[in-house]
Amino acid sequence: MKKLGVAVVGTGSWGKNHARVYSELPSTELIAICDVNVERAKAIAGLYGVKAYTDSSRMLKNMEIEAVSVCTWSTHLAKEALKALRAEKNVLVEKPMATNTKQAEKLRETAEQNNLVLTVGFLMRFIPGLQSIRDAVENKKIGELVCANAKRVSQWPERIGDVGVVKDTAIHDIDVMRFISKRDPITVYAKMGSMKHRKFEDYAHIMLTYEGGESAFIESNWLTPYKTRTLTVTGSDAIMRLDYITQDLWIEQQKESVQPRIPFQEPLKCELQHFAECVLEKKKPLITGEDGIKALEIAQAAVQSSAKNKAIQMKR
Ligand SMILES: NC(=O)c1ccc[n+]([C@@H]2O[C@H](COP(=O)([O-])OP(=O)(O)OC[C@H]3O[C@@H](n4cnc5c(N)ncnc54)[C@H](O)[C@@H]3O)[C@@H](O)[C@H]2O)c1
Repeated sequence: MKKLGVAVVGTGSWGKNHARVYSELPSTELIAICDVNVERAKAIAGLYGVKAYTDSSRMLKNMEIEAVSVCTWSTHLAKEALKALRAEKNVLVEKPMATNTKQAEKLRETAEQNNLVLTVGFLMRFIPGLQSIRDAVENKKIGELVCANAKRVSQWPERIGDVGVVKDTAIHDIDVMRFISKRDPITVYAKMGSMKHRKFEDYAHIMLTYEGGESAFIESNWLTPYKTRTLTVTGSDAIMRLDYITQDLWIEQQKESVQPRIPFQEPLKCELQHFAECVLEKKKPLITGEDGIKALEIAQAAVQSSAKNKAIQMKR
């Protein structure tokens, strides 16, 4: 079987996992990595016996590289993803994809023009329990969808200084709401503020409302001393609860509560395997550039809503 030649740009806390998984997957071959921090670049490249670069433009000249994961600081994602697309590489760009929708649209356009796969690192979609929730919502196994509640709170990882908690953290749940409802909200209302972060918001409460009367509530912060990542979806007949950390799923009704046994899977492995498959088999990815743009639009509306203290009506 032909292996896909891949590279990683940005090998910090998260990108180093992309490098590890690519080195483990049978369908991919890690060719090189790039990090502006020379010690880090050498250390990670050394682990896998691949070439280290500090300048992605030089690395992208390597014709063996067909696909690239972009895992730099959030404010560098769009610039690095655009470089890779212009060098004819298929791209998985980490969330939040870009810092604004204009940059994100440029990525989608460039990928389309060059006929390349572009996908965004919305990792939650690869957690089996979330896929079960989406199926249950679609097939009305919990009755009519009423609301969904997401909580993603923990201490501020201080290395994140270039975006706030909405674009860094809540964006996962914004995408999750789009994924399970298969719809976009009609209004976005949010309250957010900053307790410790000097430049950006470090807590946010976001409410999304939908045409059919359903609603979603997202709580995220970098203030809670422990880490919680959960989702509760309420239907007219049952509720489903997911703990993203343990991947435990519960389905609760008045008379009984069941916990389906779903084997634990490393979501990053599933995500990168899917990306490689899409490139090798020329398939449309589960998460498209459009999904990235839509999530950013909602995140931007949340920031705007809090600043203006009013609900933002979304364009249809
Ligand atoms: N999908 C997920 O679940 C998930 C989880 C964690 C982080 N992320 C995303 O991954 C990205 C990286 O996060 P992190 O926690 O690893 O940050 P980090 O600060 O630990 O690492 C970023 C690395 O990128 C390097 N870098 C920055 N700009 C660069 C450039 N232009 N070229 C090459 N290298 C560059 C830095 O030197 C650093 O080593 C962020 O965008 C974050 O939102 C996604």
